[in-house]
Amino acid sequence: MEFTIISEGSAKIIYSEEWLKKLSRRVGVFYNPKMRINRDFTIAALKTYSDIYRKRLTILDAMAGSGIRSIRILLEIPEVIERIVINDINNNAIYFIKKNLELNRIYFENINVSNEDCRILMLKNKYDYIDIDPFGSPVGFIQPAVLSLRNRGMLGVTATDISALSGVRSKACYRKYSCLGIRTDFYLEFGLRTLAKYVIEEALRFDAAMIPIFGYYYLHHYRIFFIKSKKSKDVNFVMGNIKHIYYCPACHYKSVDEKICPLCKKQMKMLGPIYIGPLYDNLFVNSIVRCRSLHKESHDVLLKILNGDFKYKDVWYYYNISLLAKSQKVPNIPKIERILEQFNAVRTHFGPLTIKSREYPILKDIFTT
Ligand SMILES: C[S@@+](CC[C@H](N)C(=O)[O-])C[C@H]1O[C@@H](n2cnc3c(N)ncnc32)[C@H](O)[C@@H]1O
Repeated sequence: MEFTIISEGSAKIIYSEEWLKKLSRRVGVFYNPKMRINRDFTIAALKTYSDIYRKRLTILDAMAGSGIRSIRILLEIPEVIERIVINDINNNAIYFIKKNLELNRIYFENINVSNEDCRILMLKNKYDYIDIDPFGSPVGFIQPAVLSLRNRGMLGVTATDISALSGVRSKACYRKYSCLGIRTDFYLEFGLRTLAKYVIEEALRFDAAMIPIFGYYYLHHYRIFFIKSKKSKDVNFVMGNIKHIYYCPACHYKSVDEKICPLCKKQMKMLGPIYIGPLYDNLFVNSIVRCRSLHKESHDVLLKILNGDFKYKDVWYYYNISLLAKSQKVPNIPKIERILEQFNAVRTHFGPLTIKSREYPILKDIFTT
């Protein structure tokens, strides 16, 4: 097999062109260049967190693959590290992690390379930051992660099973996340909030709050960062924001308390529960903007969040204007700028046709004003 050297951020790794073409969990060691944004945000989040809490961190890269995430942390933000554990269950991954550390001339003493099931590792040690980056769903990894995190510690969770989380695959959504889901006009945000709800519920069982501080969707994955808190005020806050919601499939109206659609007078569908609280923390988001680790793609996503989702972080849904136009039988979709102005709305990072508005947008009103 032919190997080549790939660069990402300040790191280099040895990788096979053949594995790159397949990009499945069946390749020897997993590395997906499209997940650079996920690692960029991890570095920005760690730097921001370490600056805010003024401390060096004990870090667990629980499912490290090639080790690229840890190598970037070691090279790009060494000042945040107290100790870093680079772990993977796969022997091949461990072989490459060691080779990749050598390739980048990293010989620090505060690094442990570990070849365990991360669930066992997490039950044995405590960390300030844990990174969970599984194939597909994080189900099964969150409980041990919550127990292993120190109070005020940070958790970064990835999920790629968008169709289950978003409710598009209703049975999988219920089976894995105990959530009633269908394909809605805001299914991508519904999925992000199902993930938040799942992590929060896992922690509530241990009287802990996992407070979301930054979350996003990009291409085929969700990523949310949480801070753990044992304060009863925080536990009550996150618990109080887990709610069933009501959705009208005919006109896309949403509510947490109305069961009959006020527009078409039909019975709405009960979905969820999902987390309807804020996915963004003011201090964290305002600080993350100053981080330099973000390449263009990641920076673009951050700007979209800053100018949209973050401004309307109290609104737990978006509207898809193409689906709204169809349901309202409006033949031509008005210009999005007109829609934003008319309904005091913002764009979201979930897609070019998604907007957040506090009022239900009746598109034909635009033609009459
Ligand atoms: C999506 S890849 C991780 C990619 C890596 N974090 C990155 O940024 O490139 C998932 C990894 O989790 C590892 N894995 C799966 N189950 C695990 C477990 N129970 N404990 C530790 N590692 C596990 C797999 O071997 C695989 O390398």
